[in-house]
Amino acid sequence: MDSLLDTTREMSRSHLQSRTADLAADVHPALTFFREWLRNPFATAAVSPSGRQLASLMVEQLPPQTQRVIEFGGGTGAFTRALLERGIAPRNLLVIELNEALHQFLSERFPGVHVERGDARDAQTIARRCGVLDQKGWVDAVVSGLGLLYMPRSVQREILRAAFAVLGPQGRFVQFTYGPIGPVPRALLRELDLKVRRAGTAWRNVPPANVFVYQRRMSKAVRAQRV
Ligand SMILES: C[S@@+](CC[C@H](N)C(=O)[O-])C[C@H]1O[C@@H](n2cnc3c(N)ncnc32)[C@H](O)[C@@H]1O
Repeated sequence: MDSLLDTTREMSRSHLQSRTADLAADVHPALTFFREWLRNPFATAAVSPSGRQLASLMVEQLPPQTQRVIEFGGGTGAFTRALLERGIAPRNLLVIELNEALHQFLSERFPGVHVERGDARDAQTIARRCGVLDQKGWVDAVVSGLGLLYMPRSVQREILRAAFAVLGPQGRFVQFTYGPIGPVPRALLRELDLKVRRAGTAWRNVPPANVFVYQRRMSKAVRAQRV
């Protein structure tokens, strides 16, 4: 009887410890993120990190057999964690984060992942330096946590150009937004010869968020393959 009680107590204790660890894993990033939002609300662009449902929806949009991924604007790592859980090898994952404190946080949280402090607009140079590109100079997907909706069109253009410079013909740029429509204006999509589809809504995210997938139009894709 005593040993049964001991076993039950031990199970409750270890359950409690693992729940506390889960909670700490979620609360610590949220506090760090909020502090950085207070310091720089425009660049951080959200008050709290993305939730697990949104992270799953983002990662579900990767092309089949994806091996190499670049993440723009890692924040405290909501998407980084989901990418690793999905099976992306740390050495094949590059996270580019502009904010110094968040870069430091990510580096400590994800040893083995290429976490670089820099501007997403310099993705190609950073990716070359880290060795995450394949022989053709491509990755399979760019997963973006940037607040693209709040950026001027000129910056949106530079971000998309940087992303598609490292994406092959079938490569995907995955972006979330809190608005009901895609954050990239139609005119810019036409100019860059890109198409977009809405992948779904993460209703349980706070606030709810929509996920959009951008790809080259077929004409561009065929041209890219011939190069
Ligand atoms: C809306 S937060 C998203 C963070 C995280 N991906 C998430 O979903 O919880 C945007 C992040 O992008 C970073 N950021 C903003 N502009 C950037 C840029 N040009 N290059 C790289 N990171 C940038 C911010 O510092 C911030 O961490």
